[in-house]
Amino acid sequence: MAITGVLRAAMMQLRVLDLETSVDFYTKVVGLFEVGRTSDGRVLLKGYDEFDHHSLALRGAEAAGMDFMGFKVASDAYLDYLTGRTKEFGFPTEDIPANSDQPGVGRRVSVRTSTGHRIDFFADIEGSDPKPSILNPEIWTVEPRGIGAAAFDHALLFGPGAAETVRYFMEVCGFAPVEKGLLPDGNAFVTWLSCASRTHDVAILEFEHPGKLHHVAYKLDNWNDIGHAADIMTMNEVTVDAGPMRQGATRGQMIYFFDPSGNRLEACAGGYAYYPDMPVRVWDFDHIGKGAFYYSRRLNDNFLKIVS
Ligand SMILES: [Fe+2]
Repeated sequence: MAITGVLRAAMMQLRVLDLETSVDFYTKVVGLFEVGRTSDGRVLLKGYDEFDHHSLALRGAEAAGMDFMGFKVASDAYLDYLTGRTKEFGFPTEDIPANSDQPGVGRRVSVRTSTGHRIDFFADIEGSDPKPSILNPEIWTVEPRGIGAAAFDHALLFGPGAAETVRYFMEVCGFAPVEKGLLPDGNAFVTWLSCASRTHDVAILEFEHPGKLHHVAYKLDNWNDIGHAADIMTMNEVTVDAGPMRQGATRGQMIYFFDPSGNRLEACAGGYAYYPDMPVRVWDFDHIGKGAFYYSRRLNDNFLKIVS
């Protein structure tokens, strides 16, 4: 196996305003499956194509946003390596014991980045149902519902000191910069970072307010499923931000929409497979509209302003 460090973006804990309304939305519209609740009232959810115990935790709160984003790593030893290297790099770390606030998840190394985000790394996570079958495997073991979100895919995070956080993901965690968007002075203001073969597991954009979530994305199978998702969203009066559409950057196809609390979500498909020998693809400032909205070639006003 060539991937030996961070395997994939795997989890997020989101703050939501009304928990039960949100659970309804995430199960019936997004199509996730509830796999458990914690004693303090958080709800754990997963996509039908995920082996892991859960990929989304919802926590009732006064304001929307993200508590943390989680990454699965290849081994427990890598967590020790990450702890040492993160301290050397200068970002604070915290050890979180197994099965504490995230049932089914092994010990975590929690890192606070310069952008003000909490990033948790873990090596072990239990399984839960539904999950893909492995003997004579079916396409799915339960019929997808709602938009049919299959699996956690990536997130776009906004915060100050983006260059330092990008450097952390690259130098400490071994991520590759797959694409970049440049300011007129040539410095990157957004970087798409991959730890394996996705075009990005996380993207980081320079922003004045710390710890902000632009969107979290779940994967669908294909472009037809994005159209189906748009039909489901209209039927359920979901607020759509943009799409169905394609981004020039990463070539992904997607629809952006909001949950009832104002967290932006993305249902995505397509994009190319990334390999570490590929050169970085770059969008200069004059073409960033095309990089973000390939067909209309201009950003909508809300896209860079609304975060949670
Ligand atoms: Fe995205």
